[in-house]
Amino acid sequence: MRRFENQVAIVTGGGRGIGAATARRLGSEGAAVVVADIDLEPAEEVSASIRAEKGEALAVPLNVTSRADIEKMLAAALERYDHVDVLANIAGTGFAAHFLRLTDEQWQRTLNINLTGVFLCSQVVARHMVERGIAGRIVNMASTNGLVGEGDYAAYNASKFGVVGLTMTMAIDLAPYNIRVNSVCPGLIKTRLSQPLWADPAASSEYLKKIPLNRFGEPEEVAATVAYLASTDSGFITGHQLVIDGGQLTF
Ligand SMILES: NC(=O)c1ccc[n+]([C@@H]2O[C@H](COP(=O)([O-])OP(=O)(O)OC[C@H]3O[C@@H](n4cnc5c(N)ncnc54)[C@H](O)[C@@H]3O)[C@@H](O)[C@H]2O)c1
Repeated sequence: MRRFENQVAIVTGGGRGIGAATARRLGSEGAAVVVADIDLEPAEEVSASIRAEKGEALAVPLNVTSRADIEKMLAAALERYDHVDVLANIAGTGFAAHFLRLTDEQWQRTLNINLTGVFLCSQVVARHMVERGIAGRIVNMASTNGLVGEGDYAAYNASKFGVVGLTMTMAIDLAPYNIRVNSVCPGLIKTRLSQPLWADPAASSEYLKKIPLNRFGEPEEVAATVAYLASTDSGFITGHQLVIDGGQLTF
């Protein structure tokens, strides 16, 4: 089923991991995909792989913390594809640091990319959707760390709790314009970001004890949930946090 025929989607952080899988998934379902990433080279590779499958894609450089960059990205998207129906805010960063050793710089950088980035991209793109009367869909990347705490991740947790709150308020403020806003809350997914946890045998077997399904998630599994929330299949869902964690939060 090609749910995004004649639709245009922007995927931030589209060059790697969950963002890359999301860009490919939306592209395979018919969307023209703007693959936006601070690293242009992987974004270009993802974009080329979508085109190789007879899809449509454009790679664009983007730092989600810069409003000027976001406006340039939107202009590039509009020039090529005319309008934008879907925004998937996937770009993000994270690292472990005990609360007592967390620096101002680490705190600010994490909040800037993971939370302020979602605000800025969403506001710029939502203004376009409202102006054009588009029944848009915005999917924000939160995390299970946006719903429960985890030691050594104060900045990351604060940023992802922020994304959950932002999602709920955006859902209310944008509902009158028929724009839906949801977030996904993945547990541990095998990407570059989480490599220190899944690639180390000792850390990995310890972590798996917390996951009833006894495995880590794949980027494609998160991409499928983003695609669901971005499609009309989820037409009556807004302001929701979709958990995809192999059952981790059931403990
Ligand atoms: N991997 C997990 O276990 C997991 C779990 C829950 C949530 N997440 C979230 O998923 C998202 C994607 O993470 P991932 O695991 O795929 O990591 P990843 O490192 O594989 O990919 C992140 C991508 O975001 C890009 N990026 C980073 N800063 C950026 C910026 N300022 N502007 C634009 N692009 C930027 C990177 O270049 C990279 O391509 C993040 O928001 C992360 O917090 C990941």
